[in-house]
Amino acid sequence: MAQRIIPLVDHRTAALPTPHAAVPSPAGTLVDARGRPLRDLRISVTDRCNFRCSYCMPKEVFDSQYAYLPHSALLRFEEIARLARLFMAHGVRKLRLTGGEPLLRKDIETLIEQLAALRTADGQPPEITLTTNAALLTRKAQALKDAGLNRVTVSLDGLDDTVFRRMNDVDFPVAQVLAGIEAAQTAGLTPIKVNMVVKRGTNDAQILPMARHFRGSGVVLRFIEYMDVGATNGWRMDEVLPSADVIRLLQTKFSLVPLQASAPGETAERWSYAGADGLHDPALGEIGVISSVTQAFCGDCNRARLSMDGKLFLCLFAGQGYDLRALLRGSDGGRPPATDADIEAAIAAIWQGRTDHYSELRASLPPEATEGMRRVEMSYIGG
Ligand code: GTP
Ligand code: 5AD
Ligand code: SF4
Ligand code: SF4
Repeated sequence: MAQRIIPLVDHRTAALPTPHAAVPSPAGTLVDARGRPLRDLRISVTDRCNFRCSYCMPKEVFDSQYAYLPHSALLRFEEIARLARLFMAHGVRKLRLTGGEPLLRKDIETLIEQLAALRTADGQPPEITLTTNAALLTRKAQALKDAGLNRVTVSLDGLDDTVFRRMNDVDFPVAQVLAGIEAAQTAGLTPIKVNMVVKRGTNDAQILPMARHFRGSGVVLRFIEYMDVGATNGWRMDEVLPSADVIRLLQTKFSLVPLQASAPGETAERWSYAGADGLHDPALGEIGVISSVTQAFCGDCNRARLSMDGKLFLCLFAGQGYDLRALLRGSDGGRPPATDADIEAAIAAIWQGRTDHYSELRASLPPEATEGMRRVEMSYIGG
């Protein structure tokens, strides 16, 4: 029998730092050890997904034997909303729900309602967005909007049905994803973004058809370099198609002009389609490239990630997380549940100590140096 590789969810936990006098109280001004503020909290609400994209949840690993987390291990909605409130006091403005597939979490609308009622340090509502494979979006778009979701990002790796069915590995048709996108547009979950992970030799022939399809549709298509996240996808550098090549290919058919970044710490480099006059034509829209492999964007990375079981990760490539659930619930050994002030102090101390910049390291070190680093799965901390 072939040996089974089971790099399950990484349960290693970093020790929570002991807050000290220098820990700032929440005022929205927290910065990490490299001067980066905390702005974006990505909340993974389930470790399950109904797709088996080979770059994320390969079938051989995520099969019927896979040990998903029991329901009791998941943060309850009230726990998530409480943590989100405390993160927002420290400067978070954007909340992204991810998974796995977040629409598989029962009553997700209830969580969105709770998050929509929160306010940032300066009294604004958070921007709430959600990353989905759109399988359930047609059914849920309007309820999500009504609950207070602002927009969605849909993962779609090609327009050709054969290619897409092979990539999601559960034979899911393109047409249903497109129907989900349409439903989201109708419900006003806009601007909609579509994320396409590009794997050289697998779906690079889909780049131009995808661009043609979404050009002028109001949907922002983004091409993502295939990344070495997790330990299960068998990542190889030769399957990465650098964004520069994507742009070069697009320029053979379309006229593109670079756009300014719209927010500090943004993942995507933005380009707009130009009209006959060579200038940006808003009616044709824009595209983005996310180049975490060839052009690391750690320099102003303001993203924190919360797993469904309450661990805080400071980087997509982190090997361990900080167990905030233990603070929320207290421990069997007699530690009582933490107060808001305790949790705020813990968040501040953790963020202040943050030095993570994995993608920059990967770019600057020889491959052997980063290959063996233990990393959590993307389906565990979200994309
Ligand atoms: P918008 O606010 O909609 O622009 O979202 P975003 O680009 O911040 O988030 P999204 O989840 O859509 O990110 C798109 C993809 O970029 C993810 O699926 C990842 O592949 C990659 N990505 C997002 N955040 C990071 C990050 O912090 N580091 C790295 N290396 N890649 C990231
Ligand atoms: N490389 C790049 N992006 C990935 N995603 C998941 N796995 C990878 C990977 N190996 C991202 C995709 C998808 C989202 C859910 O996670 O953007 O749309
Ligand atoms: Fe599921 Fe998204 Fe991962 Fe694909 S990329 S397996 S849709 S979580
Ligand atoms: Fe941020 Fe880590 Fe991604 Fe760099 S690799 S941008 S530090 S999440």
